[in-house]
Amino acid sequence: MATAADFVPPVHDVETLAAAAQACRGCGLYEKATQTVFGSGPERARMMLVGEQPGDREDLAGEPFVGPAGRLLDKALGEAGVERTPVYVTNAVKHFKFVPSERGKRRIHKTPSRTEVVACRPWLFAELEAVEPEVVVLLGATAAKALLGNAFRLTEHRGEVLSLPADEVPATVRESRVVATIHPSSVLRGPPEARDESFRSLVADLRFAREVLDG
Ligand code: URA
Ligand code: SF4
Repeated sequence: MATAADFVPPVHDVETLAAAAQACRGCGLYEKATQTVFGSGPERARMMLVGEQPGDREDLAGEPFVGPAGRLLDKALGEAGVERTPVYVTNAVKHFKFVPSERGKRRIHKTPSRTEVVACRPWLFAELEAVEPEVVVLLGATAAKALLGNAFRLTEHRGEVLSLPADEVPATVRESRVVATIHPSSVLRGPPEARDESFRSLVADLRFAREVLDG
């Protein structure tokens, strides 16, 4: 089975990785998407955020979290006292998966399959090895399951300091501490009456991640 592994160069710098990822054919998602949306941020970042996959806006811009979910994320980071600039931001899957809306005018986000997540994971491992973050924040079930296994249940492990499975991840990031929280889009997609509470819970988890980092 094809995966990104055939396309990941054996280097530890994110610029080279990002350039190589533009040519990835590790799964079928490159066919309809505009471009690979690689992670973005300083290579020496102490914190890494991992989302699900680029959305419509990210697919066009080539940058992660620049659309509505990104705005909400920025607001939550601000309230949690985390500055975005020094953080490395990426996604579990690097191409936008979508289906056309009924009239074909809009592109509707579609959750990536387990096969696609696993196919794309070599890029995420390579980013982890290049950045060696002290704290990794997993935003939503797709990111959490990509790194912690398909059986991982987000609701059971919020507010905990987790670690990456030693037998799966690159040796140099086994010490990274991991915090799992909801995806910013779930705040936007949830019922209006639940939005405030779900936003506050995202802020609380991001604040917790900052405290883990600050020690
Ligand atoms: N949702 C994500 O998970 N990532 C993005 O980059 C944008 C929206
Ligand atoms: Fe490669 Fe990931 Fe894009 Fe699939 S989604 S083609 S594995 S970069």
